[in-house]
Amino acid sequence: ASHGLKPPKTRNIIEMMEESGKNCVIFFGSQTGTAEDYASRLAKEGKSRFGLETMVADLEEYEYDNLDAIPSDKVVMFVLATYGEGEPTDNAVEFYEFITSESPTFSLDNDPPLGNLNYVAFGLGNNTYEHYNSMVRNVNKALEKLGAHRIGKAGEGDDGAGTMEEDYLAWKEPMWRALAEKMGLEEREAVYEPIFGILEKYGLTRDSLEVYLGEPNKMHLNGTAKGPFNAHNPYIAPIRQSYELFSVRDRNCLHMDIDISGSNLSYQTGDHVAVWPTNAGEEVDRFLDIFGLTSKRHNVISVKALEPTAKVPFPTPTTFDAIVRYHMEICAPVSRQFIATLAAFAPDDVSKGELGKLGNDKDYFHSKVNTQYLNIARLLAKVSKGKQWTAVPFSALIEGITKLQPRYYSISSSSLEQPKVVSVTAVVEARQLPGRGDPFRGVSTNYLLALKEKQNGDPKPTPFGLSYEITGPRNKYDGIHVPVHIRHSNFKLPSDPTKPIIMVGPGTGVAPFRGFVRERRKMAESGQAVGKTILFFGCRGPTEDFLYEKDWEEAKQVLGDKFELVLAFSRQGPKKVYVQHRLKERAKEVNELLLQKAYIYVCGDASNMAREVNAVLAQIISGERGMSEAEAEDIVKQMRSSNQYQEDVWS
Ligand code: 2AM
Repeated sequence: ASHGLKPPKTRNIIEMMEESGKNCVIFFGSQTGTAEDYASRLAKEGKSRFGLETMVADLEEYEYDNLDAIPSDKVVMFVLATYGEGEPTDNAVEFYEFITSESPTFSLDNDPPLGNLNYVAFGLGNNTYEHYNSMVRNVNKALEKLGAHRIGKAGEGDDGAGTMEEDYLAWKEPMWRALAEKMGLEEREAVYEPIFGILEKYGLTRDSLEVYLGEPNKMHLNGTAKGPFNAHNPYIAPIRQSYELFSVRDRNCLHMDIDISGSNLSYQTGDHVAVWPTNAGEEVDRFLDIFGLTSKRHNVISVKALEPTAKVPFPTPTTFDAIVRYHMEICAPVSRQFIATLAAFAPDDVSKGELGKLGNDKDYFHSKVNTQYLNIARLLAKVSKGKQWTAVPFSALIEGITKLQPRYYSISSSSLEQPKVVSVTAVVEARQLPGRGDPFRGVSTNYLLALKEKQNGDPKPTPFGLSYEITGPRNKYDGIHVPVHIRHSNFKLPSDPTKPIIMVGPGTGVAPFRGFVRERRKMAESGQAVGKTILFFGCRGPTEDFLYEKDWEEAKQVLGDKFELVLAFSRQGPKKVYVQHRLKERAKEVNELLLQKAYIYVCGDASNMAREVNAVLAQIISGERGMSEAEAEDIVKQMRSSNQYQEDVWS
């Protein structure tokens, strides 16, 4: 099962395919689960449309030196996410190193080594990063060099432009046609075949101790949770304190201190903390209702994979309620292909027609679904005018809806100052469309807000007060707790504290810099010499969303002229003033610091701010050093690759 904590065994892909009668394996390199989802979708579609015998495989669990022994009547697909600064995902590191090495050693002596291998490739990337889709590009290059035969194009999906789903859909059609031709496959009318079987467990009730009610694994169920705590096994951490940094109209900002002293977790300033959210009660209810599951929400079921290579994405026996509340991403944007699949189960012909249209017409889908922030339950209720969709098999929901993912926050504390308490800074915001009913609300931020309200006994409901089961399964987290783990990052202060640093962080992008500044303050307090420390911080205005004002004042008192806060208030005057404008005003000083090998850090929104800061830096360097913009851009690139320029950005 996927919830075992044992390290996976290295397995032989050819034996696995032969034993289970497969002719198509889909390897994924996935960090947060998206690439894995696309791999599953390819597997499903290959089976239902073309009768391919497909299996999905985690790159980490197999050997690849026998890729050369896979016969040419089979096909291998690669769905590969690019992570961070052009790196492979954790589960694909070994494969990547193997396949891109100078001359990988294979099991046979073929010439060319992979002359028999037919492959398909799709990459997931983000064009706001410099090494866009480098994983699929490099793997594709390596496979070509080894003589393998690609079928269709090496596809590239772009999360930065928000077109991942459409890029995937546009790529897969010609790929399937080419594959069908190559392998002599006949397309057939797709019939839905469930991958998971749902067994009602009449003998058990939800009070039975072996029934999972949201516990992520067996140790948590038995109350014997222990480390290592990681992406499969959260630590249920006590919240030490939580409060609002500001609260205006439809936005407020939370500060939360999470105590990890009871665990063996550790962090370094600049790392990320992952929060495992719970879905809001209102959304769980809406979801169960639209699929007609409300009356049996607490029935105990066990879910079994009907395919030997499929994995149930949560532990069982469990209940519908627990699956939906703790394991399904029910508020995420809806996939157009999934909508097309559901058309067959519509409650009436009008709804069926509408789903078919949504599934086939990308612009129509965009205007009716994406721009309206509709999640699956809201969309279906709208389409059927509230009529329930009771014919949808629960297996289709498990297959079509992503598993609920932890959310990562840049830690806003210093590990030097407080090694066992991590701070989180999060803006809770409702995106309201004018005159269009319920706003879209962030899953994890609202969960954190609910935790804060509960902890402070706050009687005042916020404008977006949603109800959560915040005390965890079986009320085990009372007192108040939050499930977390830590992810280490490369976003780090220079090891030499006398090096100057420039930090650029508007909004909650300032979070890691609170940690950086507190760390340098702490160093200075203990008598260490500290280099120039400049923070460019942007917000709407001094009384609206100015974060951590007191922190900066205290830093100033200790660090004196070694610390400087440069403010950009965007909504004060007639014109927007942003952090990059302030950087440019100080072009001379910024350039001088960079020549002294100052480190520069950027945190916050990837698509606009981080790009604009990058461009302004090139302009500064070009202007101050009297060189062309192209030369200056090269210097910025070098600064990135030597880690003098570091980013912690999100889209
Ligand atoms: P605005 O909302 O008034 O446009 C934190 O969100 C701060 O970042 C706000 O002051 C916001 O300004 C500002 N901001 C918005 N877009 C930006 C951009 N492209 N570059 C830099 N700052 C930006």
